[in-house]
Amino acid sequence: MTNIRSFSTKPSVFDDYQAELLVNSPGRINLIGEHTDYNEGFAMPTAIDKQISFKFRINETENFCRIYSDTFNNGFEFHLDQPLKKQSDWRDYLIGIIHVLQQKNKLLEGFDCMISSDLPTGAGISSSAALECGFCAGLNELFSLNLSDIEIAKISQCAENEFVGSNCGIMDQFASVLSKKDHFIKLDCRSLATEYIPADLGNFELLLLNTRVSHNLADSDYNSRREECETAIRLIKLKNPEIKSLRDVDYDLLEDYRSELSEQTYQRCLYVLQENERVEAAADALRNNDLQALGKLMYASHRGLQYQYEVSCQELDFLVNFAEEKEFIYGSRMMGGGFGGCTINLINSEDVESYITEISEAYFERFKIYPEAIKVAPSAGTEIIKLVSHE
Ligand code: GLA
Repeated sequence: MTNIRSFSTKPSVFDDYQAELLVNSPGRINLIGEHTDYNEGFAMPTAIDKQISFKFRINETENFCRIYSDTFNNGFEFHLDQPLKKQSDWRDYLIGIIHVLQQKNKLLEGFDCMISSDLPTGAGISSSAALECGFCAGLNELFSLNLSDIEIAKISQCAENEFVGSNCGIMDQFASVLSKKDHFIKLDCRSLATEYIPADLGNFELLLLNTRVSHNLADSDYNSRREECETAIRLIKLKNPEIKSLRDVDYDLLEDYRSELSEQTYQRCLYVLQENERVEAAADALRNNDLQALGKLMYASHRGLQYQYEVSCQELDFLVNFAEEKEFIYGSRMMGGGFGGCTINLINSEDVESYITEISEAYFERFKIYPEAIKVAPSAGTEIIKLVSHE
């Protein structure tokens, strides 16, 4: 017996639906700083102008909850006082949130929730973080749980780590909740200190190109990269107990251990040290409006991910190599976990349309599928709008 009942047609209760709360929860991009978050390093993400919307209302029952997604055309209902099992699909991001909130003894009651989205899934722009964070933020508001924005991001990460089973860092959830419009966040993933840097891109803009591939080892390869970094830290820690993560390791210390690490693990660690430096340099470049310097760092980041961290794939490399030939594209790199998903391109606005046509044809010629072009603008994090006041 499962407590979860699925339905694939919209329950009539959602037809003339009067919600009391609207939550808009965005996806994210990351300008630079990849695979650094779980190594307590630096990243530079921000939310984008594509989002998942949640319409919530309390339904005056003690335990009965009903959720429907207009985008997936299916939904489910369950009782809060009975165990919630993993479903191995999009619902786990929501059930995971309920699971973590209940572990924290946060008191929930029956509610209805309708979801719609204009965020492409599987494109590496964190639709999963948007689902988790928007849902958590909505429940926080609906039931006055008193969670701070950072707690919402951490609970969402915890749902993904412990319930969904992906060992991700904090970057995606942090960006989805705490971004500011027209800014990048220089995020210290250790202390969660932030610097909001204006995204002054002049006549340049950000264009994502979705490879439309997701190589099937993405999850296990992601977790094994993380494991490799942790293995190196365990070794270094034996004689240096003050070292907690790669953030504490400098080039000299890494060099001291080179002979004890496999060449592969050494390269993984070296990449992380170098990528952290690139984020610092990229923050300087942004502050100085030096877009060409920023772009060079993006290409260098990609090469590190391709050759040292080895999380790229031929489709991503093709898109970056093609971009590198164009003087109107200052920077291009794979974005997110890798093995598919998008590249992020810093491109002159005047050339966007003609480039989309050109790259689409070239990519089709090579891989027999068309890439998806997604124009994005740095945007604000989670937005909460009360539709009915209970004064
Ligand atoms: C995924 C994870 C993030 C981060 C990136 C790589 O998006 O969810 O936590 O590790 O990969 O930078």
